[in-house]
Amino acid sequence: MVRMNSNRIEVSIILPTYNEVENIESMIHEIEDVCTNFSHEVIVVDDNSPDGTYKKVEALREKYPSLVLIRRFHERGLSSAVVRGMEDAEGKFFIVLDADGQHDPSVIPKIYESLKSFEIVVASRQKNRKGYGKFSLFRKLLSKVGNFLTTKILKINVNDPMSGYFGIRRNEFEKISEEMNPRGFKILLEILFRSRTKNITEINYEFKTRKFGKTKLNFIVVLDFMISILEIYFYPKLSADFLRYGIIGVSGIFVNLTVQFIANNIFSFNAKTAYFSLSISVILGFIFSVTSNFMLNNIWTFQQKKFKFGKDWFMALSRFALVAILGLLIQISVWMLVLGELKLYLSGVNFQLLNLSSNLIGILASTTSNYFLSKRFAWRISL
Ligand code: GDD
Ligand code: MN
Repeated sequence: MVRMNSNRIEVSIILPTYNEVENIESMIHEIEDVCTNFSHEVIVVDDNSPDGTYKKVEALREKYPSLVLIRRFHERGLSSAVVRGMEDAEGKFFIVLDADGQHDPSVIPKIYESLKSFEIVVASRQKNRKGYGKFSLFRKLLSKVGNFLTTKILKINVNDPMSGYFGIRRNEFEKISEEMNPRGFKILLEILFRSRTKNITEINYEFKTRKFGKTKLNFIVVLDFMISILEIYFYPKLSADFLRYGIIGVSGIFVNLTVQFIANNIFSFNAKTAYFSLSISVILGFIFSVTSNFMLNNIWTFQQKKFKFGKDWFMALSRFALVAILGLLIQISVWMLVLGELKLYLSGVNFQLLNLSSNLIGILASTTSNYFLSKRFAWRISL
């Protein structure tokens, strides 16, 4: 989308929102109150929040004509919302902040001033210890671990690379926008890594506690963040999605074996029915692991196309199960084929070792095909 007004303004302020109905109004008022000395627009990027955040924004457009609302219907995610806001923004400078009141808008004019001399400006919670506000121990720890990983692995030397409050010049964003792979909460981290500019400064501010509502940063987001660091580092050699799929696959093996173990203990008591009970256990193990794998991939690996529980969810699960059955066939065929070959050429080697290696090759082959097939057919994401 390109808006027709070609008179560039100074600053585009980008507010990603998801369920911020109680916070968004005061946030916009506060921003407008402090942005009096420069031309600006406020862009709210809302992912069709169920609480109707966008309605509040629409209502405020009368009072603030420069207020822009982008309502996304098919996408979710903080980082991608921010990128979307930047793509539509008209300002020379972009400033991003959370809409829940944790980021004090009075810092905006300072960020703006700094952007005149620096490409990227990070509003940092770190330098001043009190800057954390009232904050859970878990969150503090998380922040520390994240900071450690980013400085040591990505070699980014900013005090608060996970901050959601920062400014960047349009030019700098345009330089890296094509390489961006915005996912989860890692937006600033990715910008810092891709941009590689040294022309960065930090401004300290006090990180407040949330006014209303609750954080969307959960266990999944945290796990995702760790994977994202690897993804940014290895990109494009490693697909983080594939890694996620693989990790879930391993968890599925545990689910499968546990269910089989329990079922075996329940069913197989006498020799006559042993064969039957064993098959039941195998089938139950398969059903449970396929379902848990599906649920985990749905909320993690393919979260951008997440199915809500209902008819579509079941249809997707069925397609996923079909892919899994096919995968099983692939795994067994590859296993047998490779084992046959290995036995021929490495006749002196221990059979168990050959058997294990061919089985692993089979698992690798089926995981790879399962990944692509379920992405394409179960979640209908084009490859
Ligand atoms: N459009 C959109 N879509 N916005 C979202 C989404 C989403 O899926 N998820 C969260 N947001 C918005 C929230 O509405 C809020 O305005 C802002 O993004 C931050 O979300 P919070 O859920 O409040 O995050 P937080 O306070 O736990 O996390 C903060 O600290 C992290 C590091 O500890 C944020 O500043 C993060 O950016 C930061 O990485
Ligand atoms: Mn928050």
